[in-house]
Amino acid sequence: MPHESLKQRLPYRAKQLKFALFTSYKKEHIEFARKYLSIKELALFDQLPRYEKKHAVQVAKHLLADAHGKFNIDERKLAKLALLHDIGKAATKLSVVDKVLLVILNRYFPKLYCQLAEKGQREKARSIYRKVYVHKYHNQIGAEMLKRAGAGPDIVYAVEHHTREEDPNDPIELRLLRKADSTY
Ligand SMILES: [Fe+2]
Repeated sequence: MPHESLKQRLPYRAKQLKFALFTSYKKEHIEFARKYLSIKELALFDQLPRYEKKHAVQVAKHLLADAHGKFNIDERKLAKLALLHDIGKAATKLSVVDKVLLVILNRYFPKLYCQLAEKGQREKARSIYRKVYVHKYHNQIGAEMLKRAGAGPDIVYAVEHHTREEDPNDPIELRLLRKADSTY
């Protein structure tokens, strides 16, 4: 997520938390994911916790609606990208509570957040360090996972770069993803 002020981010975070806690993962979410993902990609997607899967489906639906009829981009590719953009978070178990705490830690204690993350690089690192590491670097972890799963270079690139600041030269699918991701 690109850095913005707390005042700007707070309504979004509150909305995201409410959505994660009070919206159930329904048949329609499962069917949507099945429609766009291959068996291999679905197996990856299913490693995400339910609240992240709901978020990914929500982002994908809005991204498709946003792009519809405006850009000459493959709809399937856009949906895959949105569904898998946070796949790196599947590298450890992150509950909704973990996520809230990590967002607060990153916001108010960024130095500590970075120090803890650096200790979590190894897969067998202590759970607390591993969670911070995966939260901080989920974009890079996700890009690696997708590369190994045979995803196209456009998808790998967009996943790797979706958390950094926007650049005017960013490809359109990356810009659309950031917009949908920061709204839903
Ligand atoms: Fe996201």
